[in-house]
Amino acid sequence: MTITLAFDVYGTLIDTHGVVSKLQEIVGNKAKEFSCTWRDKQLEYSFRRGLMQNYENFAVCTSDALDYTCTYYKVPLAKQQKKALLDSYRTLPAFKDVEDGLARLKAAGFRIYAFSNGNADAVETLLAAAGIRDFFLGVVSVDHLKSFKPNPAVYSYFLRKSGASGSSAWLISSNPFDVIGAISAGMSAAWVRRSQEAIFDPWGIEPTITVRSLCDLNEQIGGYF
Ligand code: 2OP
Repeated sequence: MTITLAFDVYGTLIDTHGVVSKLQEIVGNKAKEFSCTWRDKQLEYSFRRGLMQNYENFAVCTSDALDYTCTYYKVPLAKQQKKALLDSYRTLPAFKDVEDGLARLKAAGFRIYAFSNGNADAVETLLAAAGIRDFFLGVVSVDHLKSFKPNPAVYSYFLRKSGASGSSAWLISSNPFDVIGAISAGMSAAWVRRSQEAIFDPWGIEPTITVRSLCDLNEQIGGYF
């Protein structure tokens, strides 16, 4: 059976906290906290827009979340500073294990896609800037559906676009909400738990497998069948 892998992008392949060094120039030692609040709000805004059926693309959620975070930390940004931060969000770094992990999976014959809340242009730019675009057969973005993860419709959309089906399609994500969303929609899912401090939501839905690094995926998914 050919296995199709849907890689979540922000937080799984690409490190959203790659903005911390730029943030340090602006908010000093609050940079890590600021980055976490920014990311949490970005996701919250995507969930709320999805529920409200009031879609704006993910870059709008990112920009609005940055405005919220600046107000929260009482850090007024000049237009140029905000632009510089949002620009750096378009070229964030990949996590260290990504290139090696993807190379192993590609060599083993998995069909590999990127599957993201981000719009296709933004994801293409990110993957190219991180030097990993060539590992992917394609980019599937929720933007075409005008909704966000974890709406079950976006996981079905991935299956249609990639020509994959149910349990032979795996979501690979560090985001527990995404793993739970994919399993609820009938896919298999690997939770990438790079840090022992990461907590999985206690909903009674468990990841199909849990890995500490993308380099362990090939063996663990292979061993699952
Ligand atoms: C992504 O879809 C959820 O941010 C995550 O790339």
